[in-house]
Amino acid sequence: MTASDSPRLIVMEHPLVAHKLSILRDRNTANHHFRQTLHELSWLLAHPTFAALGVRDVDIETPLEPMTAQAMPTPYPCLVSILRAGNGLIDGFMQVCPEASVGHLGMYRDHDTMVPVSYYTSLPTDIVDRQVILGDPMLATGGSAIMAATKLREMGVSDIVFSCLVAAPEGVAAFHDAHPDIPIITAALDRELNDKAYILPGLGDAGDRIYGTG
Ligand code: PRP
Ligand code: URA
Repeated sequence: MTASDSPRLIVMEHPLVAHKLSILRDRNTANHHFRQTLHELSWLLAHPTFAALGVRDVDIETPLEPMTAQAMPTPYPCLVSILRAGNGLIDGFMQVCPEASVGHLGMYRDHDTMVPVSYYTSLPTDIVDRQVILGDPMLATGGSAIMAATKLREMGVSDIVFSCLVAAPEGVAAFHDAHPDIPIITAALDRELNDKAYILPGLGDAGDRIYGTG
């Protein structure tokens, strides 16, 4: 199966998403404009991402009559950011779902091997009881997302959704091989990786563009 055939891959198609992605892809977009646009885009990406989570029935009363409504299961979801760039997505998700708890997994790609190195872990103690949204703008080789999802799985987390802005077919295939039951929600599926494992056409180094460190 190719990445674009996968039933576990949702690629957003929306004019506003396409418009904001074009701003992010443009090399001339200034860092502050990149950050702001990423923040706006994260609100749009929250829509299909949270749609992949389960809901529960709750009995409530409107001012007119009782009804069975739907609500997020409790404890509320945990939003896990793959540092650094993941914060650019998760900050927006926190605003649309302020009840969520937030975790951080620090990892960076070794510049020679492209293999992720884990340097920090901070997760809620009851994370096994929560649905988890794992967020990182970029899915390139898939190494970082796979390492993060594997860490969550080893802790016993069962419900995970991976959410990103730009995915490479190579990363989608690797992630699905490693975690076939975890859906990937992305704003774009790009063409391929270059020989340095950057996504083409991509948007460059997401962390550097958010924080102005490139
Ligand atoms: C980037 C990006 C992902 C990773 C994707 O992070 O934010 O975490 O690369 O690449 P992969 O799919 O090949 O693992 P980076 O390692 O540059 O760290 P940063 O967020 O601190 O800049
Ligand atoms: N990480 C990024 O930030 N960008 C890429 O294109 C690949 C990995």
